[in-house]
Amino acid sequence: MASSSSSVLPLLLFSSLLLLSLPLFEAQQPPIVRGLSWTFYRSSCPNVEKIVRDHLKDVFRRDITQAAGLLRIHFHDCFVRGCDGSVLLDGSEQEAPPNLSLRKEAFRIINDLRAKVHQACGRVVSCADIVAIAARDSVELSGGPKYRVPLGRKDGQHIVTLDETLRNLPPFFGNTSTVLGFFTAKNLDLTDLVALSGGHTIGVGHCSAIVDRLYPIQDPIMERNYADRLKTLCPFPNSTEGSFPLDLRSPNRFDNKYYVDLMNRQSLFRSDQDLYTDTRTKPIVEKYAVDEKAFLDQFVASMVKMGQISVLTGGEGEIRANCSVRNNPVRMPEDGDHDELIRTLVSESSDGDEIEEDGMSAAF
Ligand code: HEM
Repeated sequence: MASSSSSVLPLLLFSSLLLLSLPLFEAQQPPIVRGLSWTFYRSSCPNVEKIVRDHLKDVFRRDITQAAGLLRIHFHDCFVRGCDGSVLLDGSEQEAPPNLSLRKEAFRIINDLRAKVHQACGRVVSCADIVAIAARDSVELSGGPKYRVPLGRKDGQHIVTLDETLRNLPPFFGNTSTVLGFFTAKNLDLTDLVALSGGHTIGVGHCSAIVDRLYPIQDPIMERNYADRLKTLCPFPNSTEGSFPLDLRSPNRFDNKYYVDLMNRQSLFRSDQDLYTDTRTKPIVEKYAVDEKAFLDQFVASMVKMGQISVLTGGEGEIRANCSVRNNPVRMPEDGDHDELIRTLVSESSDGDEIEEDGMSAAF
């Protein structure tokens, strides 16, 4: 009796420790929001995913670095007004500083994909869905996990202002608390933040986003030799052009080396490096650095979650014929088109009195 209880005790202890550690690292599959489904195009465009994948295989065979550009576009799309393809629209959102470094080629690839898909099926697949599929394939074709994305997003009809764009995209110079604020505003938690930041396992950053940690004084957290290399690349406080891999160890491979970089204090942005300084996120970084599967599982779950932020579905939005232009623009006062609002208000003024335009403008 005594011997059986003594052998059970360590087992119990071990299982409860395991259970305690689960909430932190277990990748729970997020629920699918109403209006999206795993089989959305089953009858209207059954080959959509194959068409996208075949084209991307061609593109990446020539230049695998384009995968990073496509993954980043999905993130920037989802964080500003939800995953509605608004980032693709020519106009103010693309002019916001964090979007200036989105790859122009990535926008071209999305439009090429849209053309191929619409040629095969007609205008039934949204640009927002094409972005989500392309991001997924970029991950897998760079050596990352294979996963499914729920589909059925519609494209937005609003141009998003510069100000709204800036208010929704986290800054690279922010610490974990700051960046986490942007994530929680989208219902993404600490674990999502650490896992999704792992998207920086592929792609590059430019000097414009690096110099603040090199000048006027070097960020003491940054490893010395690494900082010296960066200074050679970005020799002046106002250097902008040079680019450096986000993941030093395997720049084009979707793996867990980004977390190894963080532990070696070799990452470009404060928003990344602080994940290893902040005591809330440090254990998650350490876990992902040694357990690649834990990272990849959580990355998939967090991507599916991010990919459903404020999506338009059913009768909402539209399916654009050209991803860069709205078919049926819906104009809002915040679109910045004050003239149109003034015209509407003038024509609606019941007593027929003319409202002076300057006076109205001043009121906005
Ligand atoms: C956590 C907050 C984040 C911040 C502050 C941030 C910031 C940045 C910055 C400053 C760059 C480099 C821009 C340049 O200099 O060219 C970049 C690149 C990139 N980001 Fe993020 N990012 C964040 C999260 C994410 C997420 C969630 C993903 C995807 C899941 C992602 C994917 C990428 C990729 C793939 C690149 C490389 C793009 C390329 O090579 O063209 N980022 N990010």
